[in-house]
This record gives sequence, C-alpha cells and structure tokens, in this order.
Amino acid sequence: MVETAAQLATHERPPAPVRTETSRVNRPDVAGPDKPEPPFPIHLSGAVQKGFGRGGKDLGCPTANLPDESLPQISTVTQTGVYYGYAQVSSTRDGQTLLSKEEAKVLPMVMSLGWNPFYKNKQLTAEIHIMHDFKTDFYGHEMKAIVLGYIRPELDYVSREALIEDIETDKRVALNSLARPEYEKYIEDPYFGFDRN
Ligand SMILES: Cc1cc2nc3c(=O)[nH]c(=O)nc-3n(C[C@H](O)[C@H](O)[C@H](O)COP(=O)(O)O)c2cc1C
Repeated sequence: MVETAAQLATHERPPAPVRTETSRVNRPDVAGPDKPEPPFPIHLSGAVQKGFGRGGKDLGCPTANLPDESLPQISTVTQTGVYYGYAQVSSTRDGQTLLSKEEAKVLPMVMSLGWNPFYKNKQLTAEIHIMHDFKTDFYGHEMKAIVLGYIRPELDYVSREALIEDIETDKRVALNSLARPEYEKYIEDPYFGFDRN
C-alpha cells in the first residue's frame, strides 16, 4: 500500500531512489488517465512563502512555496512526488496591483511535494512552478491551485544537471497532460476567482 505524506512524516524515511540514465530516457510524454480521477482534483490555496531560493538560482526553475497550513489538505490524500495542474496568483498585495493581467491568469503549473532529497531538506514542502515568465517575484500574494494529476515520485540525483533535466521533462509532460480536454476545462473553474470581473 502507498503511504500518504502525512504517514511518511511520522517515521524514519527510506532514502529516495536515485534517478539513473536509463530511467531518464524512458520517461513517457503524458501522465495519468484521460480524465482526472480521485483524489484529484485537489484544491490548494495560501499566501506565497519564501523558500531557500535555490529553485530560481540553481535550477532555473523558480518555485512558489505554499504555507505549511495548506499542506494537510494534500498530504492526507496523496503521496510525495511531482504533480501537474493549474495555478493563479492574485495580482494584488496589500491593496496594490503589482502583477499584470497576463501574470494573474490561470496558468499551467508543476508542483513538487516532498523533502527535496537532492538538497536534503528537513521539512516537507509544496512548491509550485508556474509556467510563465514573471517579471517580478510575488511573495506574499495569495495563490490558488488545482492539482489534477501525478507525474512521478521525488528522487535523488547524481548531479544538479540531472535534476534540471528531469524538471524540464516534468514541464513538458505537464503541458502535454493538461492539453487534454478534460483537464483544460479546469482553466475556467469557478474556484479561480481572483481578478475576475
Ligand atoms: C517539477 C519539479 C520537480 C522536482 N523534483 C525533485 C526531485 O525529484 N528531487 C528533489 O530533490 N527535488 C525536486 N524538486 C525540488 C527542487 O529541489 C526545489 O525546487 C529546489 O530545492 C528549490 O527549492 P527552494 O526554492 O526552497 O530553494 C523539484 C522541483 C520541481 C519544480
């Protein structure tokens, strides 16, 4: 039986498997069934927190961390790993409009839920990479996300380059998976309510 993240957090964790060359080249282009199946969709929300900042600097993949309070929503129903879905960031913070209309749209995302074995984190985090070229960071802004599918377990890597390559593949897999009609329709989901007039 697969353990949930909440169960895993209560006892000693086995080391994450290390990604090898062969398993990297054999990755499928699409993940999950043609239509989201339980436990998806999973709804998450919270103000964006600062992580360690390595995502943008080391990996060329900036991530928005969800606050710890939003973690039980996901960790009780599903396992650690890489997921795909849609996210939206509020354009305003403290009553000021700081993001453009384009940046505040519902956008495709990949999410990493886990302990980042490559960096040996001590705490479980949910980090969302929104696939859009943001002009500024958006710490403190409210973010909403709908998680629609699972891509792979989190892994350890022999090098930073190997992790980067896998994250690039995750992004492609997420975009392919979200391009299916039963996934695409979540762009219009009423849960995404910021800035709609
Ligand atoms: C799509 C995606 C997949 C990831 N997969 C892994 C993984 O398999 N193993 C791992 O250790 N970290 C993984 N990470 C997490 C990165 O290690 C993490 O984003 C990085 O440590 C930056 O965190 P920071 O901004 O808090 O410094 C992944 C991140 C993303 C966005």
